[in-house]
Amino acid sequence: MERMVWEQGGRFRQAFGEVRGLRHFFSPGRVNIIGEHLDYNGGYVFPAALSLGIAAAVRFNERPAVRMRSSGFPGEHTVPLDAPIENDGSRGWWNYPAGVIAHLARSGARLTGADIYFHSTLPDGSGLSSSAAIEVLTAYAMLSAGGGGAFDDDERIRIALLCKKVENEFIGVQCGIMDQFAVAMGKPHHAILLKSDTLGYERVPLRLRDHSLVIMNTNKPRKLSDSKYNERRRECQQALDEISRIHPLASLAEAEAGDIEGISGETLRRRARHVATENGRVLRSVELLKNNDLDAFGRLLWESHRSLRDDYEVTGAELDALVEAAMAASGCIGARMTGAGFGGCAVALVRTESLEPFTAAVGPRYLKATGLRADFHVAEIADGVREILPGGP
Ligand code: GLA
Repeated sequence: MERMVWEQGGRFRQAFGEVRGLRHFFSPGRVNIIGEHLDYNGGYVFPAALSLGIAAAVRFNERPAVRMRSSGFPGEHTVPLDAPIENDGSRGWWNYPAGVIAHLARSGARLTGADIYFHSTLPDGSGLSSSAAIEVLTAYAMLSAGGGGAFDDDERIRIALLCKKVENEFIGVQCGIMDQFAVAMGKPHHAILLKSDTLGYERVPLRLRDHSLVIMNTNKPRKLSDSKYNERRRECQQALDEISRIHPLASLAEAEAGDIEGISGETLRRRARHVATENGRVLRSVELLKNNDLDAFGRLLWESHRSLRDDYEVTGAELDALVEAAMAASGCIGARMTGAGFGGCAVALVRTESLEPFTAAVGPRYLKATGLRADFHVAEIADGVREILPGGP
């Protein structure tokens, strides 16, 4: 982090000049271990925060505006604090921090002018939640203007909820709460078992012993707003409505085999089956991890992938090829796509001593199947959003 702070200081000076009083914030990306497409179905999810993420160097000032620059996007973008802020298509990526500032203002937060420089270490379009990271980072930094001090869990959950609202209402993606919650609440070496409708949660130690969690990037970019994400949401609502006419249910994640059989359309039946079976897999995974049964946990990862491929249909040729190549490599005991799907990343549970032969086998096999080069990265499970204080971690 010291190096990051030093480099960010240099970038900020180049962009804005003065660095006196500069403060540094960092928000991680996330990886979802298991429990996919459940957070808008009232189910359990099991994500973790990563050491990769987005840094912000921030200098607060007395001006009624927030000026922003980023190493990933050209130009400077200014958001006024004394005028209404609306989504503006021509603003592109800047709509994320702008939307957060707009929603903070609407929520009555007292906002201070600032210059902000963003720098990301998350691979672009990789599905590791760069949008949740930039949202939660902007909210956390803007709310820190008045003083220091870490936010407690309740305040972090409020930030996550505000950022989800930004994504739903300002950006227009009907995502659930998982990503914002994970990047706000992560802890090193822990994944978060989160019940998405009640927001009840438990941090569970992710003890992988002699195995590592490998993040594998298909390098097929995906964009949530372009994807079939909102369509899946609608299908799940239809399935729930159908079941509820006969057997009222609070959420689709609670559907039982009998409920699902009663759904009239074959597609909707498969969507509901994924949701209900995946929910069971999350709870079994947490039990297995607590009992150190990694082999059985690995099998559930693979079952999850098959369910996302066959019943939920959100994988696509690249994710399937990468996960199949991983499953065929020795030392791998389970693999699945992670995140929304349609591209982005997959995860594999691999014996740590086999990491090198694993990537040496999977990379070429994937390249041959798709013409794309995969990237591999051993996941380091880290803290949620935070201010980086001098001498701190
Ligand atoms: C995206 C969304 C999340 C969640 C996942 C799928 O990451 O932002 O809310 O629905 O897809 O599990």
